[in-house]
Amino acid sequence: MGRVRVGRVTFDPERIVMAGGATGANEQIIFCLADHGDAFLVPSPYYPAFDRDLGWRTGVEIVPVHCDSSTKFRITRAALEEAYEKARQSNINIKGLLITNPSNPLGISLDRDTLKSLVNFINEKNIHLVCDEIYAATLFCSPKFISIAEVIQEMDCDRDLIHIVYSLSKDMGLPGLRVGIVYSYNDAVVSCGRKMSSFGLVSSQTQFLLASMLSDDEFVEKFLAECSKRLVKRYHVFTKRHEQVGISCLKGNAGLFFWMDLRHLLQQQTFEAEMKLWRTIVNDVKLNVSPGSSFHCQEPGWFRVCFANIDDGTVDIALKRIEAFVPQSKVANTATKKN
Ligand SMILES: Cc1ncc(COP(=O)(O)O)c(C=O)c1O
Repeated sequence: MGRVRVGRVTFDPERIVMAGGATGANEQIIFCLADHGDAFLVPSPYYPAFDRDLGWRTGVEIVPVHCDSSTKFRITRAALEEAYEKARQSNINIKGLLITNPSNPLGISLDRDTLKSLVNFINEKNIHLVCDEIYAATLFCSPKFISIAEVIQEMDCDRDLIHIVYSLSKDMGLPGLRVGIVYSYNDAVVSCGRKMSSFGLVSSQTQFLLASMLSDDEFVEKFLAECSKRLVKRYHVFTKRHEQVGISCLKGNAGLFFWMDLRHLLQQQTFEAEMKLWRTIVNDVKLNVSPGSSFHCQEPGWFRVCFANIDDGTVDIALKRIEAFVPQSKVANTATKKN
């Protein structure tokens, strides 16, 4: 974590609590901060498994903060206030706000002003801020990653309200090892988290192996640099060839995926039409992309495309299939609309 934010932040090892991946870490922090029936604000579109991780065993609800293309899916103060007020009017007790920075599924990182406005918001409401920074080292082009750890150094805020979730699943490509952490600035949360961590410990053998790998500064530096070089190359190959067939994407700078705009291929601007298009893409085009509705996106027609975990040959096949499909789909849509 320190290496990704080098020269800007240092972390205190005493504030780290281990967990079974970010999955375990997210559940652990919710157990520490909220009671059954409480709720967390989560900007949508969001990682679908948050419904499971934040809510299934804790009994905590997710209240989505709707973001859409009119603001390039940025989290605005107005959207936060609206979600917060609506929840309060329904007697829902909001305990905190959970953000993912960089975002899954959007593939973008949050800028400093947005982060500051989020910290101001949670401070004013006296609620917690949990930042899932699992994609911190996947930044492949500017603007650079800004951690909440940096932002709170530059402003007055109650640090007891700030918590970071991290894991090695994405940045180091090690999801199978189940290594996650909660980093909390709140002593009571660290203490409670330590007691809870017995239910999802990382084995000593795994920790031993990782300690030796992560102590090799040269390897980690080379690994992260190479990953970001490969990600930027892939991102450009995908987005350029999509552009050539008239598909645009939200401009991304991080993550292992991008957010693709297929609104113009929908027969109607509805979620039924989105699912219909998704079924065609899966069954006929034979590509596995994820529909926006599965991320609780409020606007039909957006899809997440994972571009990182396939070899160059497969990329070429996938892109050729898209290139063949889009013109056919446009013709079919025009004919349907005329009828
Ligand atoms: C935003 C986010 N948080 C948490 C997770 C879960 O990660 P882990 O494998 O470390 O449990 C994922 C995995 O896709 C994710 O995208």
